[in-house]
Amino acid sequence: MNSSAYLVFAILAIAQLGFCDEVNYKDCGSAIGSVNKVSVSGCNKDMSRCILKRNTNATVDIEFVANENSNALKSVVHGVVMDVPVPFDLPNDNACSNSGIECPISSGSTYSYLATLPVLKKYPRVTVDIKWELKKDGSDFVCILIPAKLQ
Ligand SMILES: *[C@@H]1O[C@H](CO)[C@@H](O)[C@H](O)[C@H]1NC(C)=O
Repeated sequence: MNSSAYLVFAILAIAQLGFCDEVNYKDCGSAIGSVNKVSVSGCNKDMSRCILKRNTNATVDIEFVANENSNALKSVVHGVVMDVPVPFDLPNDNACSNSGIECPISSGSTYSYLATLPVLKKYPRVTVDIKWELKKDGSDFVCILIPAKLQ
């Protein structure tokens, strides 16, 4: 491959990773942070529900502004099916590690939190709202709901 073909390939590969796949979401009580945007690999704003393919890893990116300092942040993820929240297993629930965020978090700064959500083969094909919380001492720094469908 010549270098320009390689460049095009690299850009396509980065686009595939989903860094620009902004989705529709609802705020479910971000008390300490203000969410700017949420992106999920393979989804976009034209989809009323983000399609998450089973047996893949989805990449989730949450951009938010911190309104308080924090030494730590913990990720808690649930799939809400017909009002019942079911915990999602996250390989890494420390939102300050391998996430693009370094703690401590400073009030007034903008952060981009990047995480992998394994969509396991054993999950049922259901309509679900992905509830993603970033918690500081048990309080919601960030809480968002992503309307989704497991396929
Ligand atoms: C998802 O990511 C994990 C950790 O990187 C990896 O072990 C696993 O094989 C991936 N699963 C799929 C379906 O790609």
